[in-house]
Amino acid sequence: MKTYRLNLIPGDGIGVDVVNEGVRVLEALAEKHGGMKFSFNTLPWSCAWYLEHGKMMPDDGMEILRDCDAILLGAVGFPGVPDHVSLRNLLLPIRTGFDQYVNMRPIKLLPGLVSPLKDDRIDFVVIRENSEGEYCGRGSTTKDKAVQEAIFTRKGTERIIRYAFDYAAKQGLTKVLSATKSNALNHSMVFWDSIFDEVRAQYPGMESSRMHIDALAGFFIMHPERLQVVVASNLFGDILTDLGSAMLGSIGVSPSGNINPEGKYPSMFEPIHGSAPDIAGKGIANPTGTFWAIAMMLEQLGEKPAADLLMDRLCAVLKEGKATTPDIGGKGTTTSMTDALIAGIRG
Ligand code: NAI
Ligand code: MG
Repeated sequence: MKTYRLNLIPGDGIGVDVVNEGVRVLEALAEKHGGMKFSFNTLPWSCAWYLEHGKMMPDDGMEILRDCDAILLGAVGFPGVPDHVSLRNLLLPIRTGFDQYVNMRPIKLLPGLVSPLKDDRIDFVVIRENSEGEYCGRGSTTKDKAVQEAIFTRKGTERIIRYAFDYAAKQGLTKVLSATKSNALNHSMVFWDSIFDEVRAQYPGMESSRMHIDALAGFFIMHPERLQVVVASNLFGDILTDLGSAMLGSIGVSPSGNINPEGKYPSMFEPIHGSAPDIAGKGIANPTGTFWAIAMMLEQLGEKPAADLLMDRLCAVLKEGKATTPDIGGKGTTTSMTDALIAGIRG
């Protein structure tokens, strides 16, 4: 019997609902599998915890977190605590502290999802730099001026671009596209482009190109079928993947894997959406992004058959449409979707 130790950070708002349902799904998968189980350690770090303790996690939070096979996160942020405080003191320290420099974000129209676009051949991945760039947090603010720095190191830029090419090669894909803006960002993105050129020269069999981020946003809508692997900086990847998720019908459906490829630290899996205060407590959060993130986590843990089973049954629930949440046109709830999925897994 294999036991996986998972640290859970449900966080705030709908993050709590989707992680709770995620735990139920993991338990159903373990039961079906028979040879694996999960031990959960739920950490209450959130905006509510901040209001009580004056910090987003305890001083030894990273040590507590490190001791596991993977981390599952809901979403963090809630009115009452400024968003930059909650994000910068919990999520970003985990991503950088555990060197989760790859943020893997598949944008795939799963069977059963309906795209608002006419062309629904959507199946690509955005590989987002997750440890530096525009989110490095450096800068200064005075009454009259704010300066926000972006840091692009050779090491950080090269490793994410190389990861994108290696990923494409491993998946049997043929194209890597770099998101840039080197016409306006004359330091950071010119540097990014030059490293992209260096790396792509080492993959002669791979078709590679670059596009300015503004044009690329339009390209996402007009020609999603031409995309395979998009490599982007921290900010660009963040924005592009909310767009990508909207192309799948809802921001609630997309997953994200914060990966430490070397396996020195645990990786963290989460839906891409936030805590959605506008629907928190209503029980209608779409749990698809979380379930998909769990499938990514299972695959990383080496449990591919369980991941495939989960995705197969999730698509069946989406296709049937009876239990799905209102954001994708259904009349169901977070719990009804989970119940339908669990029934499918047991089935
Ligand atoms: P959001 O993703 O929470 O919500 C945007 C819109 O999408 C809202 O109308 C919401 O109701 C809807 N939505 C989001 N997830 C949904 C789901 N699963 N099912 C159905 N509808 C869903 O983004 P917003 O409003 O910009 O941020 C809210 C809070 O979340 C802020 O405090 C923000 O800082 C935080 N946030 C946290 C993230 C994280 O922990 N990774 C990521 C993004 C935002
Ligand atoms: Mg985002």
